[in-house]
Amino acid sequence: MKTTITTLQKMKQDGQKIVMLTCYDASFATLMDEAGVDILLIGDSLGNVIQGQTSTLPVTMDQMVYHTGCVARGNREALVLADLPFGAYQQSPQQAYENAAKLMAAGAEMVKIEGGMVMVETVAFLAARGIPVCAHIGLQPQSVNVYGGFKIQGKTQHEAEVLKRDALALQQAGAAMVLMEMIPADLAKTVTESLSVPTIGIGAGVDVDGQVLVVYDMLGVFPGKKARFVKNFMHGVSSIQGAFESYVHEVRAATFPAQEHSY
Ligand code: KIV
Ligand code: NA
Repeated sequence: MKTTITTLQKMKQDGQKIVMLTCYDASFATLMDEAGVDILLIGDSLGNVIQGQTSTLPVTMDQMVYHTGCVARGNREALVLADLPFGAYQQSPQQAYENAAKLMAAGAEMVKIEGGMVMVETVAFLAARGIPVCAHIGLQPQSVNVYGGFKIQGKTQHEAEVLKRDALALQQAGAAMVLMEMIPADLAKTVTESLSVPTIGIGAGVDVDGQVLVVYDMLGVFPGKKARFVKNFMHGVSSIQGAFESYVHEVRAATFPAQEHSY
């Protein structure tokens, strides 16, 4: 059955974990969809893992549209979520709408934008005009130059309060989902309990409504330094399909992520 925003909402209510992976092409989309992955994310992480960039900042709208089309053609049932890249939405709600519409036309069913309170107006603008939005908070890789590196977020009392406030404001504005990257597990748990929309975590512990990993990280093919939250799902299986099935199983059973993958 086709996964929709309603399916995800119901999964949260029923306490069933949501499984997400990044995906950049049609063949992987077919494999992931058949393995039971609920959401395929065309992440701007493609800048790192496909293009060999050191950040996601150089990724363009044209590239996101191209990869979104590739994934959508290989997919059958999963929900297709696409990132708006750096510079494609920060200027104004109007700019965000114009570019989000291009991703939707290419096959996306939801778009993801990075930012807390500053994105509230944009989330409301898109949501009111037919574009479901996933808000990405915690570590926001497009802001790496502001952080001065990829660092865990929400560690101080103040940062944690701001993150909780932002999550609620984004939901209030109409966000369909909230993704939290690299924050303490107990903070992600508190936010998840305070929201009625589903939360997805990456480096946010097990007590969130769903998990995402970058596909090349979980297959062990990305040569860079491995983050704490990454697990190689090729260990103990003999195929990529097997790795996807194992990931689906472990996320659903809440055995991934373990303590060792969390902050
Ligand atoms: O671009 C990406 O892969 C992402 C995930 C890490 C959440 O945004
Ligand atoms: Na991204």
